Amino acid sequence: MSELREAVRLDSPAGDVWAFVTDPANFPLYVNGYAGGQVETAERFGIGARYRWMAHLGPWTLHAVEEVTGWVQGSRVEYEGSIAGVPFRSWMAVAPEGEGSVLSIGVNYDLPPRRGGALTAVALSRTVRRAMRRSLAVVERRFAPAEKIELERVAHVYGFWGRNPVLYAAQDFVTFMGRPGRVRGAAVDALGLAPGAGVLEVACGTGRNFAHIQRAIGPAGRLTGFDFSSEMLEAAGTLCRRRGWTNVRLVQGDAAALDTGETDYDGVLSVLGMSAIPAWREAIARCRARLRPGGVLVVCDARLLPPPLSVLNPAVRKVYGRLAAWEPERDIPGAMLEIFGTVEVQTLNAGTMFIARAVAP
Ligand SMILES: C[S@@+](CC[C@H](N)C(=O)[O-])C[C@H]1O[C@@H](n2cnc3c(N)ncnc32)[C@H](O)[C@@H]1O
Repeated sequence: MSELREAVRLDSPAGDVWAFVTDPANFPLYVNGYAGGQVETAERFGIGARYRWMAHLGPWTLHAVEEVTGWVQGSRVEYEGSIAGVPFRSWMAVAPEGEGSVLSIGVNYDLPPRRGGALTAVALSRTVRRAMRRSLAVVERRFAPAEKIELERVAHVYGFWGRNPVLYAAQDFVTFMGRPGRVRGAAVDALGLAPGAGVLEVACGTGRNFAHIQRAIGPAGRLTGFDFSSEMLEAAGTLCRRRGWTNVRLVQGDAAALDTGETDYDGVLSVLGMSAIPAWREAIARCRARLRPGGVLVVCDARLLPPPLSVLNPAVRKVYGRLAAWEPERDIPGAMLEIFGTVEVQTLNAGTMFIARAVAP
């Protein structure tokens, strides 16, 4: 009988994880393919507790019965049972690690010879392993901080746009109401850059502001593009190579922990970034920390439509929320005012865009 094992690291304390995974009320939440079941004994926990349940596997419904055969409170539980007539032994173990914990699971089973040969055994072990991983992924999400989940969403959404930069450029035209160059140019102008300046663009995406920045700083200037999405950065790198810009450095990371190794930028720019970055307030504070005294932060972002077009806002919000992780309700100029002590705001494109400018004291 060979054992399949999987494990996941969680940010939550072992006690919380233990309470969640051993409570039969939560089996429907994380057991992969769970399709109903019940506790058969008066005791729901501890040695002797017995569970009967079903799981969907493709077109089949598998019936399982299992009994708790080992229980070390807070750290390990063992089960013995059978699923679709195949006997198994399984276990779950939770151990503290740093501020979080590690959840490990293991399954042993013997496929009766009459149930198939080596191929069936391989296919079954792949299926079981996949089911184990899916269950652990559910637990991982259950205990992940909200911002980590939002960052995963950013990576997913912008992974798509980064792989399709031409499509991204097409949506740009719609987002900026046919005037992307004008608005992007105005945002870069607001930085007041001189030739030779050092600029950081936070959430630079595929580099659609780079040409405007290059025009302002010239070949003697330096530009750092920072983004969470590797795919967006890859598209930005392709653009730089195509345009022959050798003064651009691209850095991958979360703007909430923004660090490029430099703290003396003349200007920091973020266009349509702060409405997508999960920890956006922290990101604004980090932008300020990267500026030299007198350096300028410019944030250009989108707002919901003003009346009478505001009737379209539920649809606009839904589409851009889904396709761009857009959160339009954030008071970005308000946060800049708090962090810098001053902010100037200009509105463009019939009130759907703003450019906010703050100077580091
Ligand atoms: C709407 S796009 C804007 C891209 C570019 N600034 C532009 O003007 O086209 C939003 C960008 O924010 C980036 N982003 C979202 N969350 C981020 C984070 N936490 N840290 C860094 N970049 C982030 C995305 O990967 C994406 O490239």
